[in-house]
Amino acid sequence: MSEPTSAADSSATEPTPGVATRHIRIFDTTLRDGEQSPGASMNLAEKLEVAAALADMGVDVIEAGFPIASPGDFEAVRQIAATVRGSTICGLARCNEKDIDRAWEALKVAPSSRIHVFLATSAIHRQFKLRMSTDEIVERAIAGVKRAATHCDDVEFSPEDACRTEHDFLCRVVEAAIDAGATTINVPDTVGYATPEEVLERFQMLCNRVPNIDKAVLSTHCHNDLGMAVANSLAAVAGGAGQIECTINGIGERAGNAALEEIVMAIQTRKDCLNLSTGINSRRLVPVSRLVSKTTGIHVQRNKAIVGRNAFAHESGIHQDGMLKERSTYEIMSPEEVGFAKTDLVLGKHSGRAALADRAKQLGFTLSGEQLQEVFESFKVLADKKKEIYDGDIVALVQQQISGP
Ligand code: KIV
Ligand code: ZN
Repeated sequence: MSEPTSAADSSATEPTPGVATRHIRIFDTTLRDGEQSPGASMNLAEKLEVAAALADMGVDVIEAGFPIASPGDFEAVRQIAATVRGSTICGLARCNEKDIDRAWEALKVAPSSRIHVFLATSAIHRQFKLRMSTDEIVERAIAGVKRAATHCDDVEFSPEDACRTEHDFLCRVVEAAIDAGATTINVPDTVGYATPEEVLERFQMLCNRVPNIDKAVLSTHCHNDLGMAVANSLAAVAGGAGQIECTINGIGERAGNAALEEIVMAIQTRKDCLNLSTGINSRRLVPVSRLVSKTTGIHVQRNKAIVGRNAFAHESGIHQDGMLKERSTYEIMSPEEVGFAKTDLVLGKHSGRAALADRAKQLGFTLSGEQLQEVFESFKVLADKKKEIYDGDIVALVQQQISGP
């Protein structure tokens, strides 16, 4: 871990000298896994708008949907493939010919497309869901990847529930999928059960034990059931992953997927220790977060990292005073960098004189020390009665003071 330095000191956000920066591909699955959040379904026009915004922001791969799932999903993937430019467009398929051919039918018009084939590998899924033997699974994986490779040279294979799959069997399936033509191997933590240490070890284990692993890009896909999806994704990258699968606002099945905005800003803000980069224009994070929230109807919690309304808001007097003197006292990145207009010094009962004087000044009032003290006292009385004090309240308090009793 590097020494904590001021974020205002530009060296704090520069890569470590002499250490090469590794580029990480961002694979966004808001329109597929994200749409699997209960209540999040989007119509065709909404999906096209979100896909265009993702491409514009610099996402490398957009998983546009699951074409066999419904005629609507097929049409959405087809139209995104036909119109969205700048990103590879991907469609999901179970490991059977019908799904794979249907996915290709939707994707084939895109200049750059990927078929993503998945098949569960863990003992729990083998026994209770698929009722298949390990040999049958390997055979099915090979056949599925080979089928996809007849359509397209960009094939991703996911051993579903990989993080609960026995090491030996996972290595066997991964090696077979790469031999069959998979160019990306995604290792999902399907149920969000793994810890960062386990994820790191699993990726290192695959890199060390699978002989042809260099022929494919390793990818991570973490769910957030224990709140560790972002930490697990970064651990996977430390273990050798070159692609992170994630969603805007972290939406997705159950507790969701790793949040794209958190991953991008962790990589950008901690360049000094992670030595990673992405192609994402971080200034688009807040606008795209708002678009996804509006189209899915899923609100972003106020304290959500990076894009929540409180992410750059400060209420306590001590913090506001620090912020007014030097913003790096309480901000590790700037609100402008993620697409907010500015820091929000919220006036409430914890606020102090410095923030009140600053707001009064912004509203056109320069108060003497005595006037400020008077207004501050009535402000504190009001703040005990209200959750938040608005500009109109400040104007009223100052005018009352200026005009006298
Ligand atoms: O979580 C998961 O395992 C998935 C796969 C389809 C990649 O979403
Ligand atoms: Zn998933």
